[in-house]
Amino acid sequence: MNDMRSAGEPDYTDADFQRVRRIAQDEAGIYFPDTKRTLVYSRVSRRVREAGHASFHSYLDFVQTVGGRGEMERLICALTTNVTNFFREKTHFMHLEEIVVPKLAAQVRAGGRGRLWSAACSTGQEPWSIAMSVMTAFPDAPAHDVRILATDINADVVAHAAAGIYPTVEAEAIPAEKKSQFMEPHGDGGLRFTGGIRNLPAFRVLNLNANWPMKGTFSAIFCRNVVIYFDEATRERLWHRLADRLDPGGFLCVGHSERVASKSQCGLEQIAPTIYRKES
Ligand SMILES: C[S@@+](CC[C@H](N)C(=O)[O-])C[C@H]1O[C@@H](n2cnc3c(N)ncnc32)[C@H](O)[C@@H]1O
Repeated sequence: MNDMRSAGEPDYTDADFQRVRRIAQDEAGIYFPDTKRTLVYSRVSRRVREAGHASFHSYLDFVQTVGGRGEMERLICALTTNVTNFFREKTHFMHLEEIVVPKLAAQVRAGGRGRLWSAACSTGQEPWSIAMSVMTAFPDAPAHDVRILATDINADVVAHAAAGIYPTVEAEAIPAEKKSQFMEPHGDGGLRFTGGIRNLPAFRVLNLNANWPMKGTFSAIFCRNVVIYFDEATRERLWHRLADRLDPGGFLCVGHSERVASKSQCGLEQIAPTIYRKES
């Protein structure tokens, strides 16, 4: 059955939707319910055209070949939702400045290391907000062993995040004193993070539902507004893996509509609606 498409638009059938859905689930853990059939079309049809295919069927055959691996990655990028903002959910950053970073600073000054993780960082507003909070509560952090790991499955958004350059209008969500302290004008109407803060984040491509190469544990993990795209089983597996990566007494921050189900709390105590603390 062909969808409503006009001349030049690729063929798209129910079978194609089922195939994309299976790929998204297998490759990234992302689940598209039946109601997202049109959304999938609008996100993928451009890739189909740009890769030179007349139908989803032939495009999907191609991405599932060895030579189509690069296009498979572009397909997964096209399927992700990357909406984000600076200081989204302010309570998390207050908690960071007032509770997490002072403890991390004491640990680091005593010769330890300080690690934080933004686990689905999108275009970087989240890890740069974490970095600004670290700098506010611990100004000499860049002179110590402090790192903010910032990861996402989508290589395009990770490159954007690593550049640390944003349009002025997007930076409006940053408090004025932080903006003037940590950013400088860049190009025509842009702002760029500058100075020691640039040494704090380390940006990497990482699929939360694959193996994690990094070692060690984190004082806090921000895993926000990503598990909403996963099915229940994938979420539960992830909560357990994240809990394993927290220091005793470390914190997990989740998105405003996300909760760690009580059966999968794995040593995590809910201390605020979207903040969990791992038992010491
Ligand atoms: C809506 S954004 C959330 C950004 C930020 N955490 C926030 O709350 O503002 C969701 C991000 O999750 C990423 N994502 C989706 N599936 C992923 C996976 N399996 N592994 C890692 N990142 C994933 C997407 O690429 C996207 O950038």
